[in-house]
Amino acid sequence: MGMIQTFRSVVQFDSITLDPVERRLKKIASIDDYRKVAKRRLPFGVFDYIDGGAEDERTLQRNTRDFSDIEFRPRVLRDVSDVDTSTSIFGRPASMPLILAPTGFTRIAHSQGELAVARAAARASLPWSLSTMGTRSIEEVAAVSDGDKWFQVYTWKDRGLVRELVERARHAGFTALWLTVDTAVLGRRERDVRRGMTLPPKIGLGTILDGAIHPWWTLDFLRNEPITFANVVGRNEDDGTTAVSLAEHVARQFDQALSWDDIDWLRTFWDGPIVLKGIQTVADAKQAVALGVEGIGLSNHGGRQLDDAPTPISLVEPVRQELGADATIICDGGVRRGSDIVKAIALGADAVSIGRPYFYALGAAGERGVDHMLAFMRDGLHRTMALSGVRSIAEIDRDLVQWKR
Ligand SMILES: Cc1cc2nc3c(=O)[nH]c(=O)nc-3n(C[C@H](O)[C@H](O)[C@H](O)COP(=O)(O)O)c2cc1C
Repeated sequence: MGMIQTFRSVVQFDSITLDPVERRLKKIASIDDYRKVAKRRLPFGVFDYIDGGAEDERTLQRNTRDFSDIEFRPRVLRDVSDVDTSTSIFGRPASMPLILAPTGFTRIAHSQGELAVARAAARASLPWSLSTMGTRSIEEVAAVSDGDKWFQVYTWKDRGLVRELVERARHAGFTALWLTVDTAVLGRRERDVRRGMTLPPKIGLGTILDGAIHPWWTLDFLRNEPITFANVVGRNEDDGTTAVSLAEHVARQFDQALSWDDIDWLRTFWDGPIVLKGIQTVADAKQAVALGVEGIGLSNHGGRQLDDAPTPISLVEPVRQELGADATIICDGGVRRGSDIVKAIALGADAVSIGRPYFYALGAAGERGVDHMLAFMRDGLHRTMALSGVRSIAEIDRDLVQWKR
């Protein structure tokens, strides 16, 4: 008896969590943890579509690794009792300098797809982006989110359709456009080649076995309406109602002739800010600003297009030096922690954007997973600011970081 009492006085019993999603989330402490849970819960082909990159995946790996080559020069004794992570992006308030990047086929991770991510972003007061290849329509998303919404444009050969989408986005209250400029043809994603990945997934023997050992995903997939490219159903021969490989789709539908002149064309029906997504050199950043482009999206598409392309974080400082105070610079790719946000801002970015982190969270725990992940990023940003002696985003300056030799 006495021993049990002693034991109880030193050990606090953890309360039992009945909610399975809550239980799963309690064990997740980093983006890599969401990734591991998503890997366990999603069919192999689905996980590889999200996780993979082009060719040898060297750019994919460097995108995150380059952040580890930067260290802080933290300042102490600065009264960090009041740290404020908020900022504004194109004049609109955001709770931190972070944007949810556009991703195609988001419903493949969870039936709610874009609706879940858009709602979570709005709750967190962060801009969220809808891809041209989205699996929920512009109007469906606008109906569930009054948060800041950006639309991402892929330029099809059918320019009339592009214009129509942009006009619909403007009508629905979207505030900025990403024009993706790194996808003239699709990068060779060898995991998808090996798996014979098509969108939507073709059902063969392999898929059935894969589905059987990932029953949660399979039930969610079967119980909900089919996944399609919701913005273009019936308007485009590859609208997601028949299975095609992404590479075939891009080759057939995307306009390889896209050039600098097309920015003027976009301006004839869009008067908000335009961000070029996929700028990879100082020279192109300079040309974009000379043409009046408001935003420079330093990006290699999360390592999914040209392998051995430069990493976004390595471009931030040279591009900022060239542009001076002009243009909003967004560092897109490889951001996995709040500390990565601080590093990008210190080198001269105005904001960062993330793709896989929310995709993993969605696959791991649905909409609540995305809420949880955004809170993780915000905590990390807040903590890093407190530990390095800065109280506001404006106080983060170049002196705060150095590249390791
Ligand atoms: C599964 C997946 C789908 C994507 N689809 C698109 C897309 O439709 N349009 C686009 O411009 N970028 C797309 N991207 C790229 C993201 O917008 C973003 O540039 C990239 O994910 C950033 O890198 P990160 O995943 O390391 O955060 C996609 C990325 C992933 C992982």
